[in-house]
Amino acid sequence: MASLLLLLLPLFSVLILATTITESEAFSRAVKAPYPVHKPEKLTHLHFYFHDIISGNKPTAVAVARGPTTNSSATSFGLVGVADDPLTVGPEITSGEVGRAQGVYASADQKNTGLLMVFNLVFTKGEFSGSTLAMYGRNQVLSKVREMPIIGGTGTFRFGRGYAQAKSFSYNMTSGDAVVEYDVYVWH
Ligand SMILES: *[C@@H]1O[C@H](CO)[C@@H](O)[C@H](O)[C@H]1NC(C)=O
Ligand SMILES: *[C@@H]1O[C@H](CO)[C@@H](O)[C@H](O)[C@H]1NC(C)=O
Repeated sequence: MASLLLLLLPLFSVLILATTITESEAFSRAVKAPYPVHKPEKLTHLHFYFHDIISGNKPTAVAVARGPTTNSSATSFGLVGVADDPLTVGPEITSGEVGRAQGVYASADQKNTGLLMVFNLVFTKGEFSGSTLAMYGRNQVLSKVREMPIIGGTGTFRFGRGYAQAKSFSYNMTSGDAVVEYDVYVWH
């Protein structure tokens, strides 16, 4: 019996190889998710307000670099900023913080105001506390609705993918501070 099994073993392994290695010749393969959380099967909608505070002595967004032509550019082309902006449940800054938007934005469009956004949305409250989403995309700030891809995530948002839509909620012409409403849809 044992010798028969030994004899058949190479045949089994060939069969197993044939079923796991596809036409792509082991360059890629589908794997079973090791944990249920790794199955991107849940769609989550997040809704919050993003506070970009540039005024006062405790700004949450600061300019860190300018190009030689940035000041004379209508679109501030070349301006680079870093932000650690609070995210709140409601439009008021006092409405309860749910996370921070930490990242870099750069004015990257010479014709129409357009920012390159490279941000981590860092959640600090509720079931998503400790989880992050990676948002990367183009933000044409003067448009009514701006859409940016969600390209990944950590924690609860592992394998996250989706999109964020940003809408200006209020802008203070005197201080330059802005409140932006965000709707984020993510599969994870
Ligand atoms: C551009 O403007 C900023 C802020 O007003 C100022 O600090 C900087 O010196 C200016 N740069 C140039 C090259 O004029
Ligand atoms: C706009 O900003 C100015 C200067 O910081 C402040 O005095 C004013 O109260 C702000 N307006 C609103 C509506 O928040």
